[in-house]
Amino acid sequence: MFETIDRLKPDQILGLMAQFRADPFPQKVDLGVGVYRDPSGNTPVLECVRRAEQLVLAEQSTKSYVAAAGREEYNAAVERLVLGSAHPARTMRRTRTAQTPGGCGALRVGAELIRAIAPTAAVYLGDPTWGNHAPLLGGCGLKLERYPYYDAAAHRLLFESMLDRLEQARAGDVVLVHASCHNPCGADLSLGEWRALAELLARKRLLPFIDLAYQGFGTDLDGDAAGLRLVIEAVPEAMLAVSHSKNLGLYRERVGAIITVSENEARADAVQSHVLQIARSIYSMPPDHGAAIAARIFADPALSQMWLAELATMRDRIRQMRALLAGHLREATHGNSFDFIDTQHGMFSLLGVPSSTVEALRTQHHIYMTSDSRINLAGIMPHNVAYVAAAIAAQR
Ligand code: LMR
Repeated sequence: MFETIDRLKPDQILGLMAQFRADPFPQKVDLGVGVYRDPSGNTPVLECVRRAEQLVLAEQSTKSYVAAAGREEYNAAVERLVLGSAHPARTMRRTRTAQTPGGCGALRVGAELIRAIAPTAAVYLGDPTWGNHAPLLGGCGLKLERYPYYDAAAHRLLFESMLDRLEQARAGDVVLVHASCHNPCGADLSLGEWRALAELLARKRLLPFIDLAYQGFGTDLDGDAAGLRLVIEAVPEAMLAVSHSKNLGLYRERVGAIITVSENEARADAVQSHVLQIARSIYSMPPDHGAAIAARIFADPALSQMWLAELATMRDRIRQMRALLAGHLREATHGNSFDFIDTQHGMFSLLGVPSSTVEALRTQHHIYMTSDSRINLAGIMPHNVAYVAAAIAAQR
Protein backbone atom coordinates (compact mmCIF):
# COMPACT_ATOMS: atom_id res chain seq x y z
CA MET A 1 0.00 0.00 0.00
CA PHE A 2 2.68 2.49 0.98
CA GLU A 3 4.72 2.17 -2.22
CA THR A 4 2.21 4.37 -4.09
CA ILE A 5 2.58 7.47 -1.96
CA ASP A 6 4.98 10.40 -2.29
CA ARG A 7 6.49 12.37 0.52
CA LEU A 8 4.48 15.47 1.47
CA LYS A 9 5.90 18.92 2.09
CA PRO A 10 5.84 19.74 5.83
CA ASP A 11 3.17 22.07 7.20
CA GLN A 12 4.43 25.62 6.66
CA ILE A 13 4.48 26.74 10.29
CA LEU A 14 5.91 23.47 11.63
CA GLY A 15 8.45 23.35 8.76
CA LEU A 16 9.58 26.86 9.61
CA MET A 17 10.20 25.80 13.23
CA ALA A 18 12.52 23.03 12.03
CA GLN A 19 14.32 25.33 9.56
CA PHE A 20 14.93 27.89 12.30
CA ARG A 21 16.29 25.28 14.72
CA ALA A 22 18.73 24.06 12.05
CA ASP A 23 20.10 27.56 11.27
CA PRO A 24 23.48 28.01 13.04
CA PHE A 25 23.58 31.83 12.55
CA PRO A 26 23.91 33.40 16.04
CA GLN A 27 21.70 36.46 15.35
CA LYS A 28 18.84 34.48 13.78
CA VAL A 29 15.37 35.79 14.64
CA ASP A 30 12.25 33.61 14.93
CA LEU A 31 9.10 35.53 14.01
CA GLY A 32 7.45 32.30 12.78
CA VAL A 33 5.48 29.95 15.00
CA GLY A 34 2.88 31.63 17.22
CA VAL A 35 4.22 31.04 20.70
CA TYR A 36 4.79 33.73 23.31
CA ARG A 37 8.39 34.56 24.20
CA ASP A 38 9.77 36.52 27.15
CA PRO A 39 12.53 39.13 26.65
CA SER A 40 15.19 36.42 26.76
CA GLY A 41 13.48 34.46 24.00
CA ASN A 42 12.13 31.72 26.27
CA THR A 43 8.53 30.46 26.25
CA PRO A 44 8.08 30.26 30.01
CA VAL A 45 6.04 27.89 32.15
CA LEU A 46 3.78 30.35 33.98
CA GLU A 47 4.29 30.44 37.74
CA CYS A 48 0.55 29.84 38.31
CA VAL A 49 0.89 26.72 36.13
CA ARG A 50 3.94 25.49 38.04
CA ARG A 51 2.14 25.83 41.37
CA ALA A 52 -1.14 24.34 40.15
CA GLU A 53 0.75 21.43 38.59
CA GLN A 54 2.42 20.63 41.93
CA LEU A 55 -0.97 20.62 43.64
CA VAL A 56 -2.47 18.43 40.92
CA LEU A 57 0.38 15.92 41.19
CA ALA A 58 0.27 15.88 44.98
CA GLU A 59 -3.48 15.31 45.08
CA GLN A 60 -3.91 12.92 42.17
CA SER A 61 -4.76 9.40 43.32
CA THR A 62 -5.48 7.74 39.97
CA LYS A 63 -4.76 7.94 36.26
CA SER A 64 -8.02 6.26 35.35
CA TYR A 65 -10.21 7.79 32.61
CA VAL A 66 -12.07 11.01 33.33
CA ALA A 67 -14.86 11.19 30.70
CA ALA A 68 -15.47 11.83 27.01
CA ALA A 69 -16.32 15.45 27.90
CA GLY A 70 -13.22 15.77 30.08
CA ARG A 71 -13.36 17.57 33.42
CA GLU A 72 -16.71 19.06 34.37
CA GLU A 73 -15.13 21.79 36.51
CA TYR A 74 -12.83 22.82 33.63
CA ASN A 75 -15.78 22.93 31.23
CA ALA A 76 -17.90 25.05 33.58
CA ALA A 77 -15.04 27.48 34.20
CA VAL A 78 -14.32 27.80 30.48
CA GLU A 79 -17.94 28.71 29.77
CA ARG A 80 -17.80 31.41 32.44
CA LEU A 81 -14.52 32.79 31.10
CA VAL A 82 -15.68 32.84 27.51
CA LEU A 83 -19.30 33.91 27.82
CA GLY A 84 -19.28 35.61 31.24
CA SER A 85 -21.22 34.18 34.18
CA ALA A 86 -24.54 35.88 33.41
CA HIS A 87 -24.75 35.44 29.64
CA PRO A 88 -28.39 34.68 28.68
CA ALA A 89 -27.35 31.62 26.64
CA ARG A 90 -25.87 30.14 29.84
CA THR A 91 -28.67 31.09 32.20
CA MET A 92 -31.15 29.55 29.74
CA ARG A 93 -29.00 26.37 29.74
CA ARG A 94 -28.54 26.52 25.98
CA THR A 95 -24.76 25.96 26.14
CA ARG A 96 -22.77 22.73 26.44
CA THR A 97 -19.01 22.37 26.67
CA ALA A 98 -16.67 19.47 26.06
CA GLN A 99 -12.95 19.54 26.75
CA THR A 100 -10.89 18.80 23.63
CA PRO A 101 -7.22 18.23 22.73
CA GLY A 102 -6.45 21.93 22.22
CA GLY A 103 -8.30 24.38 20.02
CA CYS A 104 -7.48 22.20 17.00
CA GLY A 105 -9.39 19.33 18.59
CA ALA A 106 -12.37 21.64 19.06
CA LEU A 107 -12.22 22.85 15.45
CA ARG A 108 -12.10 19.29 14.13
CA VAL A 109 -14.91 18.03 16.38
CA GLY A 110 -16.97 21.04 15.25
CA ALA A 111 -16.19 20.24 11.62
CA GLU A 112 -17.24 16.60 12.08
CA LEU A 113 -20.45 17.78 13.77
CA ILE A 114 -21.27 19.97 10.76
CA ARG A 115 -20.54 17.06 8.42
CA ALA A 116 -22.75 14.72 10.43
CA ILE A 117 -25.71 17.10 10.67
CA ALA A 118 -25.46 19.31 7.58
CA PRO A 119 -23.04 17.72 5.08
CA THR A 120 -23.97 20.13 2.28
CA ALA A 121 -23.37 23.28 4.34
CA ALA A 122 -20.52 25.47 3.12
CA VAL A 123 -17.99 26.72 5.66
CA TYR A 124 -16.86 30.32 5.04
CA LEU A 125 -13.28 31.06 6.06
CA GLY A 126 -11.78 34.54 6.08
CA ASP A 127 -9.17 35.59 3.55
CA PRO A 128 -6.68 35.54 5.14
CA THR A 129 -7.08 33.08 7.98
CA TRP A 130 -4.87 30.78 10.06
CA GLY A 131 -3.12 28.22 7.86
CA ASN A 132 -4.54 25.23 9.72
CA HIS A 133 -8.20 26.26 9.42
CA ALA A 134 -8.63 24.87 5.92
CA PRO A 135 -7.02 21.48 6.74
CA LEU A 136 -8.97 21.18 10.00
CA LEU A 137 -12.35 22.09 8.52
CA GLY A 138 -11.92 20.92 4.95
CA GLY A 139 -10.13 17.71 5.95
CA CYS A 140 -13.37 15.93 6.76
CA GLY A 141 -14.82 16.74 3.36
CA LEU A 142 -16.70 19.96 4.09
CA LYS A 143 -17.07 22.47 1.27
CA LEU A 144 -15.00 25.58 1.97
CA GLU A 145 -15.74 29.10 0.75
CA ARG A 146 -13.89 32.36 1.42
CA TYR A 147 -14.95 35.83 2.50
CA PRO A 148 -12.64 38.86 2.15
CA TYR A 149 -11.32 40.01 5.52
CA TYR A 150 -8.11 42.03 5.27
CA ASP A 151 -6.05 43.71 2.57
CA ALA A 152 -2.44 43.00 3.58
CA ALA A 153 -0.87 45.42 1.12
CA ALA A 154 -3.15 48.30 2.18
CA HIS A 155 -3.17 47.19 5.86
CA ARG A 156 -6.93 47.51 6.23
CA LEU A 157 -9.99 45.45 7.10
CA LEU A 158 -12.38 44.63 4.26
CA PHE A 159 -15.49 44.67 6.41
CA GLU A 160 -17.95 45.86 3.74
CA SER A 161 -16.72 43.21 1.30
CA MET A 162 -16.95 40.62 4.08
CA LEU A 163 -20.61 41.45 4.69
CA ASP A 164 -21.35 41.56 0.94
CA ARG A 165 -19.90 38.09 0.51
CA LEU A 166 -21.76 36.67 3.51
CA GLU A 167 -25.03 38.10 2.16
CA GLN A 168 -24.63 35.49 -0.59
CA ALA A 169 -24.33 32.56 1.82
CA ARG A 170 -27.26 30.18 2.21
CA ALA A 171 -29.21 29.59 5.42
CA GLY A 172 -27.41 26.89 7.39
CA ASP A 173 -23.95 27.74 6.07
CA VAL A 174 -21.21 28.16 8.63
CA VAL A 175 -19.02 31.26 9.10
CA LEU A 176 -15.70 30.86 10.88
CA VAL A 177 -14.60 34.04 12.64
CA HIS A 178 -11.67 34.90 14.92
CA ALA A 179 -12.86 36.21 18.27
CA SER A 180 -9.89 38.55 18.74
CA CYS A 181 -6.16 38.90 18.02
CA HIS A 182 -6.70 37.77 14.45
CA ASN A 183 -4.23 35.18 13.18
CA PRO A 184 -2.47 36.12 10.90
CA CYS A 185 -3.36 39.82 10.49
CA GLY A 186 -3.90 41.26 14.01
CA ALA A 187 -6.85 43.36 12.75
CA ASP A 188 -10.00 42.80 14.81
CA LEU A 189 -13.59 43.94 14.32
CA SER A 190 -14.82 46.92 16.34
CA LEU A 191 -17.86 46.37 18.57
CA GLY A 192 -20.00 48.19 16.01
CA GLU A 193 -18.76 45.81 13.31
CA TRP A 194 -19.45 42.81 15.56
CA ARG A 195 -23.03 44.10 15.99
CA ALA A 196 -23.49 44.40 12.22
CA LEU A 197 -22.05 40.91 11.72
CA ALA A 198 -24.31 39.48 14.44
CA GLU A 199 -27.34 41.04 12.76
CA LEU A 200 -26.39 39.51 9.40
CA LEU A 201 -25.70 36.06 10.88
CA ALA A 202 -29.06 36.06 12.69
CA ARG A 203 -31.04 37.40 9.73
CA LYS A 204 -29.48 34.99 7.21
CA ARG A 205 -29.58 32.08 9.69
CA LEU A 206 -25.87 31.39 9.32
CA LEU A 207 -24.08 29.44 12.02
CA PRO A 208 -21.09 31.24 13.57
CA PHE A 209 -18.10 29.07 14.45
CA ILE A 210 -15.91 31.32 16.58
CA ASP A 211 -12.24 30.57 17.16
CA LEU A 212 -10.97 31.96 20.48
CA ALA A 213 -7.27 31.13 20.74
CA TYR A 214 -5.86 34.33 22.25
CA GLN A 215 -8.30 35.45 24.95
CA GLY A 216 -6.47 38.00 27.11
CA PHE A 217 -3.71 38.76 24.60
CA GLY A 218 -5.50 41.76 23.06
CA THR A 219 -7.26 43.95 25.65
CA ASP A 220 -8.19 41.62 28.55
CA LEU A 221 -10.25 38.47 29.12
CA ASP A 222 -13.63 40.23 28.88
CA GLY A 223 -12.60 42.70 26.19
CA ASP A 224 -11.36 39.92 23.91
CA ALA A 225 -14.68 38.08 24.28
CA ALA A 226 -16.98 41.12 23.98
CA GLY A 227 -17.66 40.68 20.25
CA LEU A 228 -18.39 36.97 20.43
CA ARG A 229 -20.76 37.54 23.38
CA LEU A 230 -22.78 39.94 21.22
CA VAL A 231 -23.01 37.34 18.47
CA ILE A 232 -24.10 34.59 20.87
CA GLU A 233 -26.87 36.89 22.15
CA ALA A 234 -28.13 37.44 18.63
CA VAL A 235 -28.17 33.93 17.15
CA PRO A 236 -30.04 30.75 18.10
CA GLU A 237 -27.14 28.40 17.39
CA ALA A 238 -23.35 28.70 17.40
CA MET A 239 -20.11 26.86 18.07
CA LEU A 240 -16.93 28.06 19.72
CA ALA A 241 -13.43 26.58 19.68
CA VAL A 242 -11.42 27.59 22.73
CA SER A 243 -7.68 27.15 23.27
CA HIS A 244 -5.57 27.56 26.38
CA SER A 245 -2.26 27.06 24.58
CA LYS A 246 -1.44 30.74 24.61
CA ASN A 247 -3.18 32.39 27.54
CA LEU A 248 -2.05 29.68 29.98
CA GLY A 249 1.11 28.78 28.05
CA LEU A 250 -0.04 25.14 28.03
CA TYR A 251 0.83 24.57 24.36
CA ARG A 252 2.10 21.01 24.47
CA GLU A 253 -0.50 19.84 27.01
CA ARG A 254 -3.28 20.35 24.43
CA VAL A 255 -5.95 22.12 26.48
CA GLY A 256 -9.08 23.41 24.79
CA ALA A 257 -12.84 23.07 24.54
CA ILE A 258 -15.75 23.12 22.16
CA ILE A 259 -18.77 25.12 23.31
CA THR A 260 -22.03 24.62 21.45
CA VAL A 261 -25.02 26.94 21.73
CA SER A 262 -28.45 25.57 20.84
CA GLU A 263 -31.97 26.94 20.64
CA ASN A 264 -33.11 25.31 23.88
CA GLU A 265 -31.99 22.96 26.62
CA ALA A 266 -33.24 19.75 25.00
CA ARG A 267 -31.46 20.56 21.72
CA ALA A 268 -28.32 21.41 23.66
CA ASP A 269 -28.33 17.93 25.22
CA ALA A 270 -28.85 16.33 21.82
CA VAL A 271 -25.97 18.32 20.29
CA GLN A 272 -23.68 17.41 23.18
CA SER A 273 -24.46 13.71 22.66
CA HIS A 274 -23.24 14.04 19.06
CA VAL A 275 -20.14 15.96 20.15
CA LEU A 276 -19.25 13.20 22.59
CA GLN A 277 -19.86 10.45 20.05
CA ILE A 278 -17.61 12.24 17.56
CA ALA A 279 -14.90 12.69 20.20
CA ARG A 280 -15.15 8.98 21.04
CA SER A 281 -14.70 8.05 17.39
CA ILE A 282 -11.59 10.22 16.95
CA TYR A 283 -9.61 10.25 20.21
CA SER A 284 -12.04 8.74 22.70
CA MET A 285 -11.20 11.10 25.54
CA PRO A 286 -9.19 14.32 25.85
CA PRO A 287 -5.87 14.40 27.73
CA ASP A 288 -6.37 15.39 31.36
CA HIS A 289 -3.13 16.81 32.73
CA GLY A 290 -3.29 20.33 31.27
CA ALA A 291 -7.02 20.66 31.89
CA ALA A 292 -6.51 19.60 35.52
CA ILE A 293 -3.92 22.38 35.86
CA ALA A 294 -6.21 24.92 34.18
CA ALA A 295 -9.19 23.90 36.33
CA ARG A 296 -7.08 24.23 39.46
CA ILE A 297 -6.06 27.77 38.49
CA PHE A 298 -9.62 28.80 37.62
CA ALA A 299 -10.96 27.45 40.95
CA ASP A 300 -8.34 29.00 43.23
CA PRO A 301 -8.64 32.78 43.76
CA ALA A 302 -4.93 33.25 44.53
CA LEU A 303 -3.83 31.24 41.49
CA SER A 304 -6.38 33.09 39.34
CA GLN A 305 -4.97 36.43 40.46
CA MET A 306 -1.48 35.23 39.68
CA TRP A 307 -2.63 34.09 36.24
CA LEU A 308 -4.26 37.46 35.46
CA ALA A 309 -1.02 39.24 36.40
CA GLU A 310 1.10 36.89 34.28
CA LEU A 311 -1.33 37.23 31.38
CA ALA A 312 -1.08 41.02 31.66
CA THR A 313 2.72 40.76 31.59
CA MET A 314 2.61 38.75 28.35
CA ARG A 315 0.07 41.13 26.81
CA ASP A 316 2.00 44.24 27.83
CA ARG A 317 5.25 42.88 26.46
CA ILE A 318 3.66 42.19 23.09
CA ARG A 319 2.14 45.68 23.03
CA GLN A 320 5.52 47.21 23.89
CA MET A 321 7.20 45.25 21.12
CA ARG A 322 4.56 46.48 18.67
CA ALA A 323 5.34 50.09 19.59
CA LEU A 324 9.09 49.47 19.59
CA LEU A 325 9.16 47.77 16.18
CA ALA A 326 6.85 50.38 14.61
CA GLY A 327 9.14 53.13 15.98
CA HIS A 328 12.30 51.48 14.67
CA LEU A 329 10.68 50.91 11.27
CA ARG A 330 9.61 54.56 11.14
CA GLU A 331 13.22 55.57 11.64
CA ALA A 332 14.74 52.92 9.38
CA THR A 333 12.35 53.59 6.48
CA HIS A 334 11.96 57.37 7.03
CA GLY A 335 8.18 56.96 6.85
CA ASN A 336 5.08 55.75 8.65
CA SER A 337 4.04 52.85 6.44
CA PHE A 338 4.48 50.30 9.26
CA ASP A 339 2.60 52.28 11.93
CA PHE A 340 -0.33 49.84 11.63
CA ILE A 341 1.77 47.34 13.63
CA ASP A 342 1.37 49.52 16.70
CA THR A 343 -2.43 49.63 16.54
CA GLN A 344 -3.19 45.95 15.88
CA HIS A 345 -3.88 43.25 18.48
CA GLY A 346 -2.42 39.99 19.67
CA MET A 347 0.74 38.26 18.55
CA PHE A 348 0.57 38.76 14.79
CA SER A 349 0.70 41.33 12.04
CA LEU A 350 1.22 40.94 8.31
CA LEU A 351 4.09 43.07 7.03
CA GLY A 352 2.33 43.14 3.68
CA VAL A 353 5.49 42.41 1.66
CA PRO A 354 5.78 39.83 -1.16
CA SER A 355 6.92 36.27 -0.47
CA SER A 356 10.18 37.03 -2.35
CA THR A 357 10.97 39.61 0.36
CA VAL A 358 10.09 37.08 3.06
CA GLU A 359 12.52 34.67 1.45
CA ALA A 360 15.26 37.31 1.23
CA LEU A 361 14.77 38.16 4.91
CA ARG A 362 15.29 34.49 5.74
CA THR A 363 18.19 33.70 3.42
CA GLN A 364 20.10 36.99 3.76
CA HIS A 365 19.24 38.09 7.30
CA HIS A 366 18.18 34.83 9.04
CA ILE A 367 14.80 36.33 9.99
CA TYR A 368 12.03 33.71 9.86
CA MET A 369 8.34 34.36 9.17
CA THR A 370 5.58 32.61 7.23
CA SER A 371 5.48 33.28 3.48
CA ASP A 372 2.44 35.58 3.82
CA SER A 373 4.80 37.93 5.78
CA ARG A 374 3.15 37.18 9.14
CA ILE A 375 5.37 38.22 12.04
CA ASN A 376 5.03 37.04 15.63
CA LEU A 377 5.61 40.18 17.69
CA ALA A 378 6.63 38.06 20.68
CA GLY A 379 9.77 37.17 18.70
CA ILE A 380 10.85 40.82 18.81
CA MET A 381 13.26 41.65 21.67
CA PRO A 382 14.90 44.92 22.66
CA HIS A 383 18.21 43.40 21.48
CA ASN A 384 17.01 42.35 18.00
CA VAL A 385 14.51 45.06 17.07
CA ALA A 386 17.05 47.37 15.38
CA TYR A 387 18.45 44.42 13.40
CA VAL A 388 14.96 43.36 12.24
CA ALA A 389 13.91 46.92 11.32
CA ALA A 390 17.13 47.52 9.37
CA ALA A 391 16.73 44.25 7.47
CA ILE A 392 13.11 45.03 6.54
CA ALA A 393 14.11 48.54 5.44
CA ALA A 394 17.00 47.13 3.37
CA GLN A 395 14.61 44.85 1.48
CA ARG A 396 12.09 47.52 0.50
C1 LMR B 1 0.56 29.62 14.85
O1 LMR B 1 -0.34 30.10 14.18
O2 LMR B 1 1.76 29.76 14.59
C2 LMR B 1 0.20 28.80 16.08
O3 LMR B 1 -1.17 28.77 16.24
C3 LMR B 1 0.84 27.46 16.07
C4 LMR B 1 0.25 26.53 15.07
O4 LMR B 1 -0.11 25.42 15.47
O5 LMR B 1 0.17 26.85 13.89
